[in-house]
Amino acid sequence: MIEINGVSLAYDVTNILSDISVTIPKGGVTALIGPNGAGKSSLLALVARLQPLQSGAITMDGLSVASTPGKVLAKKMAILRQDNHLGSRLTVRELVGFGRFPHSRGHLTAEDRKVVDEALMLFDLDDLSGRFLETLSGGQRQRALVAMAYCQDTDYLLLDEPLNNLDMYFARDLMRSLRRIADERGKTIVIVLHDINYAGTFADRILAMRNGRIVADGRPDELITTDMLNTIYGFEIPVTTIDGRPVALPFR
Ligand SMILES: Nc1ncnc2c1ncn2[C@@H]1O[C@H](COP(=O)(O)OP(=O)(O)OP(=O)(O)O)[C@@H](O)[C@H]1O
Ligand SMILES: [Mg+2]
Repeated sequence: MIEINGVSLAYDVTNILSDISVTIPKGGVTALIGPNGAGKSSLLALVARLQPLQSGAITMDGLSVASTPGKVLAKKMAILRQDNHLGSRLTVRELVGFGRFPHSRGHLTAEDRKVVDEALMLFDLDDLSGRFLETLSGGQRQRALVAMAYCQDTDYLLLDEPLNNLDMYFARDLMRSLRRIADERGKTIVIVLHDINYAGTFADRILAMRNGRIVADGRPDELITTDMLNTIYGFEIPVTTIDGRPVALPFR
């Protein structure tokens, strides 16, 4: 369980996050949605301690994110950031292997290699494993980054817009894989998404942010309504139902 309590964040005098308190239960998929600039990445960065807390508290399974040693935290939580710069001449397999660092400290064991192979397979990277990152397409590189985070084999996986650059086939494939590792391995997935229909299809719960606050929190069928989406995004979005699920149609 991730407990976020009274968390605020400001740069100079601008409030980015305002007194956020929310609990993310262990297991399952929680989607974080909201307009550009709402504070989704900022909140995730605080949870992953990529940024120091200014106020409030965050715990993960009772461990304070602020004071738990990095080595311990790195075995508990992995994060894929929204922006990643990978200029160096690394192969896909090497990059994915970096995910094992908290376990192997740089010397991959046979067990580590097994996890790397499994991640390469899961994210359809086996044919690309020997390729240098700089030779990959945007979507291929994105899948390699997700595979690296997965390879860390943590209970919590925080993913900031992992569908960036993915075509429809791989976006669906990635969401299905995440759903499966949540269901079959008890992983807790927190995922920032802009496509609310992916959130509606694959998440158990949706947290919506706007202007540095959580403005809605509930199951997909509670959140994906014209009224709720208007509150979150500020415009009228028709919603229909397909196979019993709400589907937003933001096209007109
Ligand atoms: N280092 C910084 N200095 C000043 N302002 C910042 C900084 N980082 C982020 N912000 C501001 O904080 C707000 C929230 O940014 P954040 O990246 O968390 O939004 P987001 O919800 O992830 O948006 P997006 O959907 O565009 O990724 C934005 O207004 C952004 O301009
Ligand atoms: Mg962001």
